[in-house]
Amino acid sequence: MEFLIQDKAHDESRQGEALVLEPNGKHNGRKLYIESYGCAMNFSDSEIVASILADKGFETTQDFNNADVIFINTCSIRENAEVRVRNRLKEFAGAKFKNPGMVVGVLGCMAERLKAKFLEEEKLVDVVVGPDAYRDLPNLIEQVDGGQRAVNVLLSREETYADISPVRLNTNGINAFVSIMRGCDNMCSFCVVPFTRGRERSRDAHSIVAECKDLFDKGYREVTLLGQNVDSYKWSATTAEDGEALTAGAEVQVVNFASLLEMVALIHPDLRVRFSTSHPKDITDEVLYTIARYDNICNYIHLPVQSGNTRVLELMNRTYTRDWYINRIDAIRRIIPNCAISTDIITGFCTETEEEHQETLSMMDYVKYDFAYMFMYSERPGTLAAKRYADDIPEAVKHRRLKEVVAKQQQYSHVRMQESLGRVERVLIEGFSKKSTNDYAGRSDKNAMVVFPVHEDYKPGQYANVLVERCTTATLIGRIIPQTP
Ligand code: SAH
Ligand code: SF4
Ligand code: F3S
Repeated sequence: MEFLIQDKAHDESRQGEALVLEPNGKHNGRKLYIESYGCAMNFSDSEIVASILADKGFETTQDFNNADVIFINTCSIRENAEVRVRNRLKEFAGAKFKNPGMVVGVLGCMAERLKAKFLEEEKLVDVVVGPDAYRDLPNLIEQVDGGQRAVNVLLSREETYADISPVRLNTNGINAFVSIMRGCDNMCSFCVVPFTRGRERSRDAHSIVAECKDLFDKGYREVTLLGQNVDSYKWSATTAEDGEALTAGAEVQVVNFASLLEMVALIHPDLRVRFSTSHPKDITDEVLYTIARYDNICNYIHLPVQSGNTRVLELMNRTYTRDWYINRIDAIRRIIPNCAISTDIITGFCTETEEEHQETLSMMDYVKYDFAYMFMYSERPGTLAAKRYADDIPEAVKHRRLKEVVAKQQQYSHVRMQESLGRVERVLIEGFSKKSTNDYAGRSDKNAMVVFPVHEDYKPGQYANVLVERCTTATLIGRIIPQTP
């Protein structure tokens, strides 16, 4: 299946996408429909869910009317994410009315946030399952078959699903997400993730490398390593479940994010490595030097700033200051010349003044981000901010500040695109462009979308040198410069 997007870890057009997989020869006669919302971690989790159920003989369908089990993998990050899921559940009601034996399940972050309350609020829902309980899904479905409603929202300190090799859903066979850790311990005051995903834990480094190697052997050419804060990745053989690695006298191997990046980069020079998300408080120079050292680790860092003002950052509990963030940006510029940087910004956080908002704008002037994801603050029940601070910035003001931030970002995105004009970019061809089968599309090392006419010597999954001749606000346009042997 072909689909192409700028940055899959943040792609709006994937929200609600139905996921399908190839039959595996096991059949129990039942069909699963699964759709996902939220971040890349959720899409990656849906692949784990599908693997667990495919192993029990479920096949996937793209039509929920036809399904025996409907799963919706949900997000709680902002109120509108939850509203979208509630509306979607209403659409499933008609299908369930026609087929009362159908099982409807809510998975993911909303399931974790609302727990059994979901069953009271949404009569349609039969199963509620949190992100650490997916191994229990076959049992839970059985309980529902037996006439009960079922809930498992237990969070775990250990679960990383390391041994489950995820089936790849809706894949183009070229890029894949690989989860390297779960949960988050940061407690940013605005954020539900620590509550919905539980404690931070890192996955066995060897299982990550084995999965990436397997992907490469299957023809994949790009992996994106995923975690809420990849810079705090830490794994050692002592944390492994089987103690076999710990033979007497052997050195205990401790893997941090820099060493993990290196291990994955060494799999093959033609395997591109991306990662998301970096945390400004934790990104080290060691990580930056590793990126600089390996051509196949992409020169692209997503480094969410949230606000450019130190007082607001403190209220947000981000644990860095404006100066610290600027120091990290300077380090990136020094160590990795020509590195793309993107960010997340929240406007109208509790008590944010006009001057403080101006500091977010001036931070944007300083960094000149290649790309940004920009949001109005949305109060989330149960978070530190909801408990401690009034959500006191009027909607209209939040909105106006967001518009200013968006306008500034558009200006800088365009500046960054124009910098590529006349340059040759190394592009991994992902498939045909959305608009035409006469054109290929792929991304540059710096994660910019590049479109260029199909060339008979090149196929998707290969790298091409593309001379950039024009650009729109979101796309570079050029032509392949064939390599002379
Ligand atoms: N772990 C990542 C962020 C994950 S959530 C990090 O620390 O950067 C993705 C983004 O959603 C956040 O960076 C933030 O900008 C935004 N976000 C999270 N909670 C929000 C809220 N309550 N209101 C508005 N935006 C929010
Ligand atoms: Fe949320 Fe902060 Fe964790 Fe990111 S680092 S997931 S914003 S608590
Ligand atoms: Fe991701 Fe949304 Fe959960 S952003 S971690 S799916 S709250």
